[in-house]
Amino acid sequence: MDRRLFLKGTLASGASTLLPRLSLAKSSDGFFELEAGKSQAKLYGDQGPFSDLWLYNGQLPGPEIRAKQGERVRVRFTNRLDEPTSIHWHGIRIDNAMDGVAGLTQPAVKPGESFDYDFVAPDAGTYWYHAHNMSWNQVPRGLSGALIIEEANEPFPVENDLTLILNDWRLDEDGALDTDSFGARMDFSHAGRLGNWLTVNGTSLPDIPLQAGRWHRLRLINTSASRVLDIAPARFGAKLIGLDGQCFGEARDVEGTVQLSPAQRMDLVMRPETVGTIPFEMMTGQPFTFANFQVSASEPDDQPLTLPGVNRLPEPDLSKARTLPLVMAGGAMGGMRSLMKDGKELDMRQMMEAGLFWAFNGDAGMQDAPFFSAKRGESIILESRNDTTFAHAMHIHGHHFRVLERNGDTLEHQDWRDTFTTVPRETVRIAFVADNPGKWLTHCHMLGHAASGMMTWFGVS
Ligand code: C2O
Ligand code: CU
Repeated sequence: MDRRLFLKGTLASGASTLLPRLSLAKSSDGFFELEAGKSQAKLYGDQGPFSDLWLYNGQLPGPEIRAKQGERVRVRFTNRLDEPTSIHWHGIRIDNAMDGVAGLTQPAVKPGESFDYDFVAPDAGTYWYHAHNMSWNQVPRGLSGALIIEEANEPFPVENDLTLILNDWRLDEDGALDTDSFGARMDFSHAGRLGNWLTVNGTSLPDIPLQAGRWHRLRLINTSASRVLDIAPARFGAKLIGLDGQCFGEARDVEGTVQLSPAQRMDLVMRPETVGTIPFEMMTGQPFTFANFQVSASEPDDQPLTLPGVNRLPEPDLSKARTLPLVMAGGAMGGMRSLMKDGKELDMRQMMEAGLFWAFNGDAGMQDAPFFSAKRGESIILESRNDTTFAHAMHIHGHHFRVLERNGDTLEHQDWRDTFTTVPRETVRIAFVADNPGKWLTHCHMLGHAASGMMTWFGVS
């Protein structure tokens, strides 16, 4: 990371950051209107230059969409960009036709055209939405936002229920978004596009208002293209209550750090007792402050902590499950000499020319044939082995899975996730019920990795 940019950023602070919620216009037939278009915003503080961004409704981050569990969510999306795009509702167990994967579940929405997304959100929790065509280019220009599905009786009053969207940007020397380096092969074949500037809800080093003596819920969403953020909840007095939208039904005291990889979410609760400033940090060896909690005086509230409910997800039957290996290979220093693309073997030179650096089970990128086909209701175990020298953040569309084991060790908490992190030489076993008919994408959420080979799909019939 470029310390210079980070350090300068700590001078320009103090903006308060709460997401606008009621920013969506509703059309007469009940659709929220969402438009993707070119926009400008200052990322590098008020003194910095404007950056050329692509945003939803001109907002950074995109407007927060809130709906109740089980409710129909209807979004009329219009594309005002110069290139095709689509919207994916990340982490939602959705009807396949609404999953928003351009080229797999729908044709990309052309410039000037609209598409109606209409789905039911079955599970409460913290989710997000983002562009899903050329994601490596569209998402890190700003096309993402929060999607919050509330329980019928949300336990936290709305002023104590805070969404914090964490994003990592790559700024140039002047402090504007570096657009020249989009698609750089150097990034794709290494750790992905890493930034040098962190924002929370679009602002660098903002103040986040909290009230002393009251419980707050914090919904962290990592929308970065590639940056893994290490969060140490105990350092700011928070407890972990959920991951990737799925609350546990308990509040855990966590020792050390929890990785928040690209696309992952983390739900925390905290009750600051005294007025003052608490730094909100990322741990990268040494703590780095991305925001400050500003705790103000308030009537203490003696209510006990009430936790959100637990979603009912289909439990995989491990005794009957089919186990499938998923071997990740390639990338810089990965030693991969060739890979298969559409049944043809590409050597190193051809891989470079095609911009393909990674493979799953030897195959790079989308193939006509699925990785596997499941019968609806079948339990699947994926045994993923990371034979690369980089970490990856694997996302499965349309399903949540339990993470069972890492390197043969059964995990104490086999939490539900929609994206799991895997570090070099690690084997991770996950299990889920393939219960949602359709074609489901599976890819690394380090978006440059997905674009250069780490993408496949499976079918459920
Ligand atoms: Cu969050 Cu295929 O994506
Ligand atoms: Cu990856």
